[in-house]
Amino acid sequence: MRKRIVIKLSGSLFGMDDEKILKDYATFFVRVSKIYQPIIIAGGGKIARHYISHARSSGADESTLDELGIEVSRLNAKLLIYAIQDKAYPHPPTNLKEVTHAADSGLIVITGGLHPGQSTNATAALIAEKVRASVFLNATDVDGVYDSDPNKNKNAKKFKQIELKKLRNMLVHQESIAGGYDLMDIVALKVIERSKIKTRIIKADIKTLEKAIKGSPEGTEIILT
Ligand code: UTP
Repeated sequence: MRKRIVIKLSGSLFGMDDEKILKDYATFFVRVSKIYQPIIIAGGGKIARHYISHARSSGADESTLDELGIEVSRLNAKLLIYAIQDKAYPHPPTNLKEVTHAADSGLIVITGGLHPGQSTNATAALIAEKVRASVFLNATDVDGVYDSDPNKNKNAKKFKQIELKKLRNMLVHQESIAGGYDLMDIVALKVIERSKIKTRIIKADIKTLEKAIKGSPEGTEIILT
């Protein structure tokens, strides 16, 4: 059996006007699937945030907003499924049992969110645990974990490695409202810790992903002690 690689793909990739990007990812994942089985989780991105903020202003409750985010991430997942065509499992699984079933088909699996109350990062960690992935790559719109926000602080320093406990301390004060999750969250870290999942936070681009899949030390590695 091929080793399974779980990849969280930033929602930012799906909101772009450049339709070629997803086609390039599709070609890339089909190539990767000759050696590994990719299990991909699509983020919601700015389209999810748009819907969430719209519905929030109408007074919708937080779990309803989460459901909206999940629906958008599933639409994003479908775009990638259509781009990959018959090498992809034909629809996004909606719970962990379905993910297992889809993974057993041997096809490339693309899912969106699963449960309200968590981010696609947490979902991706749970999926990595469930399918016994050899690695979990969180491909996001920054190229790793920094000691402060690199968009706000030009002296921000990137960690090549970060202890899980230290990352957790950094995240403790993060807000957990719909559409507001960041690089990782507490649920994701808990799952990574309990199942000792090899995890790396990397930039969402094909070259970086390819290098990370080959074992190159891209982005930030989460150290489990
Ligand atoms: P994301 O986690 O993808 O947020 O899901 P994001 O900010 O777009 O992340 P990036 O840009 O991909 O890195 C969007 C929203 O959908 C809900 C949450 O409200 C989340 O903020 N969601 C998603 C869930 O409730 N459960 C899930 O399993 C996934």
